[in-house]
Order: sequence, then C-alpha cells, then structure tokens
Amino acid sequence: MYDVNAIRKDFPILEHVIYLDNAATSQTPKPAVEAINEYFFAYAGNYGRGAHRLARQTTEHYENSRETVADFFSCEPTNVIFTKNTTESINIVAHGQEWSPGDHIITSTIEHHSNYLPWVALRTHGVILDVVESNQEGIIDPARIDAAITDRTKLIALSHVSNVFGSVQDISRVIKIGQRNDIPVLIDAAQSAGHLRLSSNDLRCDFLAVPGHKGLLGPQGTGILILQDPEGLRPTTLGGGAVEWVRGCEYELLKPPACFEAGTPNIPGIIGLGRSVEYVNMLGVSNVEKHVANLARVAAKKLSEIDNVTVYGPKDRAGVVPFNVGQLNPHDVSMILDETSSICTRSGYHCAMPALESLGINGTVRASFGAYNTAKEVETLVESVSMIVTSLVESPHSVA
Ligand SMILES: Cc1ncc(COP(=O)(O)O)c(C=O)c1O
Repeated sequence: MYDVNAIRKDFPILEHVIYLDNAATSQTPKPAVEAINEYFFAYAGNYGRGAHRLARQTTEHYENSRETVADFFSCEPTNVIFTKNTTESINIVAHGQEWSPGDHIITSTIEHHSNYLPWVALRTHGVILDVVESNQEGIIDPARIDAAITDRTKLIALSHVSNVFGSVQDISRVIKIGQRNDIPVLIDAAQSAGHLRLSSNDLRCDFLAVPGHKGLLGPQGTGILILQDPEGLRPTTLGGGAVEWVRGCEYELLKPPACFEAGTPNIPGIIGLGRSVEYVNMLGVSNVEKHVANLARVAAKKLSEIDNVTVYGPKDRAGVVPFNVGQLNPHDVSMILDETSSICTRSGYHCAMPALESLGINGTVRASFGAYNTAKEVETLVESVSMIVTSLVESPHSVA
C-alpha cells in the first residue's frame, strides 16, 4: 500500500512547508542524503583515477549508481551518461554532432527554453527549425509532427510532459514516427522521469534527457543522458578522465560513457542520485504516477470551481497545475500563499516564454505535486486561494 505519511518521514523539510514546487526541483529523501554524508565522512576521493583505497571505493560507488540508473531505464550502464542537469544533457546532443545548412529539426511551441534554445542556436549553422504548435491545452498532435517531416529532418525534440500545462504527449507515437522515418528522437523527460511509467518503446528513443533532481528525487546538480548509440555522438567537453592516450597533439578518447564525463564529476551528487533512484524504485513509479495524477486532478477541479480562478491545461494531466487569480500578478499570489500558508509554488513564465505567449498571458502560478504530497495539502492550497479571492472581492486594492 502507498503510505504517504510513512514516506513523508524521510523528508524532514516537509514539517515546515507545503512543498508544491516539484516541477522546479524536488526534495531529497534521507537515505540519499545519508549516502552523500557517508561519501564525505567515510571514503571521499576522486572518481576513475588513483589506485588508493578512497579512489577505488569512490569509483565503485559511482559506478554502482550508473548500474542502478541503467536498471531503472532498462538499458546498459554504457548507455548512461551523467550530467549536471537536463539542460546539459540536451546541449550535449545539440553540440555533439555535425549539422549542415538545410538540416531540419522539429520541436514544439511549448518546450522549456532548455529544449528550445539549443535548437534555435543551431540556426547559425543554417539549420532550419520547425516549431509545431500545440492546442490550447498544451497537447501536440503527433500527426502535426508527422506532417512536418521533410527529407532533411535530422531530429525530433519533444518534451514528454509540459512544465507549463501539465499535458502529457503521446511520445510512443512520436517515437514510432521517428523510427518509421529513420529520424532520431530526443525526449525531454524533465517532468516525467520518476513520475510516469515509460514503456519499453519510450525507452528506445535515441536520446532521453533526464534530471536527477526532480522526479528521481536526487540532489541538485545531477542529470542523466541515456544514449541508444553512445558511439554516434561526439563528446562536447574534453579533458582528464576522458582519454585513452595522448601523444603530442594526437589523442584517443575512451569508450563511452567515460569519454562524455571529462573532469571531476559531481561525485557526491551522483552517489546520492543512485540511492534516490533505489528509493523511487521502492515507492514504485506506477504508484507515484497514480498518487500524483490524483492530487493534480483534484487540485485542478477544485481550483477551477473558485470564482475568478483560471486553471490551464488538459483534464487528464500529470502533476502540474497552473492557474491565475483574476488579474493578480502570479508572483504576488505565490508570495501570499507562502506568507499565509507556507505553501511553496512557482510563479512566472516557467522558462517557457513561447508556451505562455501561445496562451496570451505572461505568467501563471504553478502548483506541482510529488510523491510525498497529500490530499490535505491540496485542501490547504484550495482554501488559501479561495481566501485570496475573497479578500480581492472585499478589498480589491489591499491584496497585492
Ligand atoms: C520540460 C523541462 N525541460 C527542461 C528543464 C530543465 O531542467 P534542468 O533544470 O534539470 O536543466 C525543465 C526544468 O524545469 C523542464 O521542466
């Protein structure tokens, strides 16, 4: 049975706040923090180099994390590249291959800037960017992607779950479209990894960009790039730990994943991430998916029943619920929620200006749910928003 109260004991910070900003970053459970402490207190050394015991122990723990992550995503450890966040994972794909003038990339209007700007920047190489539009609920019809394909299409880059709308894209269909046309597909799983089950076909996309610090509950500064064909991409950072040999100006890179991880990585972070992925496995992704979807569904329904509150996104959504209260500035609403009820929400344009533009607004308040949130917290959110609306009616100038 999914016992959210038992889970919450592993997140002491939740005694002080109602944390509804999981789409930005999540809290980290005690076992992962303890694994990080253990690294610092018991065996801290560098990774992959050095013969002494601390270096060997560190390397073993780091590689154990890679195996845990590989099991989680049903791939081989050699397919797992550790990065510092989703953004870096996507940029490695953007800069790790040759682009020629006229190459064509398909993405969408609702992407986070991290899955948008790397492709926009390739236009300086003559790459043509096709930005497919979503509907008003943030859903992209895969048929539109199919229709956008040309004989020069070299990549389809799409997010699984929108951080603006909470909409879930039919990535299985998009990946099949890519496979049928022999076009690589990149899935930005920033809002889905650890929160939604990924089918075996989903996991066969060419590039899966994943944050360690959101649904996988790992520490900040951790990310993952899963590559189907690690030999097909060129490392974008060169240096120590990534080469087999160097003679004069000649060198040979190590095999993946090592060639993609030059320099000292975020060792404590990756060790903590390994432990947090075990923790998510213990919770069960399908349990988390049901729990989070239920909270989001109830929150969206109850918020939309309040006069003067607009909720965005589809009825069937992942754990993201964006809304606005009348004409109030979203930052003011978010601040009031914090000050009156210790509720942490995100406000603003959520690093996705084109998506907000498509709605004709310049910001929302975003409540986003995670494995440890409760129905009671949803109630408090709804009551607090109602209170803001009531004070707005009673005293229109005093709220903000
Ligand atoms: C859909 C999406 N893509 C990419 C990112 C960037 O993630 P990161 O902060 O791990 O680089 C985010 C962050 O919120 C996101 O929601």
